[in-house]
Amino acid sequence: MADPQEVLARRVQSALGAAFGSEYADADPVIRPSQFADFQANVALALAKQLRRSPRDAAAAIVEHLDVSDVCREVEISGPGFINLTLRDEWIADRVQDLLSDERLGTPVQERQNIPIDYSAPNVAKEMHVGHLRTTVVGDALARTLEFLGHHVIRQNHIGDWGTPFGMLIEHLLEVGEDSADAALLKSDPNAFYQAARAKFDGDEDFATRARRRVVALQSGDAETLRLWHDLIELSKIYFNRIYDRLDVTLTDDDLAGESTYNDMLGPICDELSEKGLAVVSDGALCVFLDGFTGREGKPVPLIIRKSDGGYGYATTDLATIKYRVEQLKADRIVYVIGAPQSLHLRMVYETARQAGWLGDAEPIHVQIGNVLGSDGKILRTRSGAPIRLMALLDEAVERASAVVAETRPELDEQTRAAIARDVGIGAVKYADLSIAHDTEYVFDFDRMLALNGNTGPYLQYAVARIRSIFRRGGLDPAQATGPVLVTEPAERALALRLLGFGPTVVQVGDTLEPHRLCAYLFDLAQAFTAFYEACPVLKAERDDVRASRLALTAATLSTLVKGLDLLGVRAPEQM
Ligand code: ARG
Repeated sequence: MADPQEVLARRVQSALGAAFGSEYADADPVIRPSQFADFQANVALALAKQLRRSPRDAAAAIVEHLDVSDVCREVEISGPGFINLTLRDEWIADRVQDLLSDERLGTPVQERQNIPIDYSAPNVAKEMHVGHLRTTVVGDALARTLEFLGHHVIRQNHIGDWGTPFGMLIEHLLEVGEDSADAALLKSDPNAFYQAARAKFDGDEDFATRARRRVVALQSGDAETLRLWHDLIELSKIYFNRIYDRLDVTLTDDDLAGESTYNDMLGPICDELSEKGLAVVSDGALCVFLDGFTGREGKPVPLIIRKSDGGYGYATTDLATIKYRVEQLKADRIVYVIGAPQSLHLRMVYETARQAGWLGDAEPIHVQIGNVLGSDGKILRTRSGAPIRLMALLDEAVERASAVVAETRPELDEQTRAAIARDVGIGAVKYADLSIAHDTEYVFDFDRMLALNGNTGPYLQYAVARIRSIFRRGGLDPAQATGPVLVTEPAERALALRLLGFGPTVVQVGDTLEPHRLCAYLFDLAQAFTAFYEACPVLKAERDDVRASRLALTAATLSTLVKGLDLLGVRAPEQM
């Protein structure tokens, strides 16, 4: 086992059992990183009252029974009853040695859960905006990480492919012709297509009437209408896939499970909720009222599941997603990576599903995505106020990155520079979305995300490229750098200890669904490597055994950074 915190926790727990009886053997030993040692166990303070002892006495009793001589070089009681634990250098070195031959870099394989993840979810014939970008990037990092932890991840792209706007969109498609340049806009500039349809709808009464009739035809399954609708989806898919491709996002057509897929479930859902007495008719609409969900003046907020015109909306479809994911996908956890403003909607949907008995043991989780703002503190838009075109934004990121690369690596040929700029530009945008707590809003700022200093994608990519260049200069293959690992210098020790943190961090990301923790870890690791590299010559180490060890530490850092970036969905270029 490579995780020092876990190893120490087990040892302290057996000491607890030996000192105070078996009922204490699974108490939380409260192991934390310490300023004065590597770790401290704070359990004596937590248990003192219950044990009717002073915390210091309790600590002394624990230490008396604590057997860590193989792991720790020093155990010391400090302050009111903290137990400070300092690891042995050789123990640390041996654990890093284990990592060198472990593809998983110390990450355990967890008990397999079925985890549908609902993320990205753009709308057909609409531009994806930076909010979709962020749920796409965060959701994809979570999917990759949970998969690596051994879970069965089922990607669910809940695209907006149904509803009243489709009448107008289909009618417009019919008018311009399916093979026209106007229709081709769906593949590149979907908003332009949408706006054109909208303009006709608003300005032409006949068109509006036909559009409304088209909605009815769509809902009643008219073949020609469905064919046109299909065409609309197919063209939109091309646009989505171009964006996913550009972003290295793992979503494919197989992961599409749009709103329309739930159509057949909506009527029965309403019936079942009515029968169970959960849904009632209010002002002609079928509604669920839940305790604790009140709006202004304490008025209950309804979850509308069937509108007064008989149509179903967003809430009913989302109830269907729960039923489907629990019943058909056998979900253990259901992850919804969706904008923070939809929190109320989702809480009401979850509560309704729970009361209807549809949730079973599954746990629905809303991973709230904070807004991405412009420099004016408002939702990011172009200067003219139009929504930002995502592809244009990504192009600009790559363009700005290529200016950086042209400056730092003028000697490279154009093609190589373009490839690096692509990785750096896209990596910078993705990393900016990931490195900030997912529920926090932030200001979109190219200069900051492309900076080579600080917790940025380019900083980590540069750290990787620099390590690769060390091996290149030495004419060495990192895979051959197998140690043995020795830990003597403080900077070696600090780096080695960080390397042991990878597996625990990945586990934490899987539990909390917070990819920014992995970013923080990788940033810290890269900084520890820089400090090590400044203090400890690698290729020019004086002794052969020291050189071999430092090369091994360098190789372990490289694989950890590369694997970590891979879990985040950020490319690690060969050079930079
Ligand atoms: N299509 C919606 C939008 O663009 C997001 C859907 C999120 N997923 C869900 N299951 N509600 O705002």
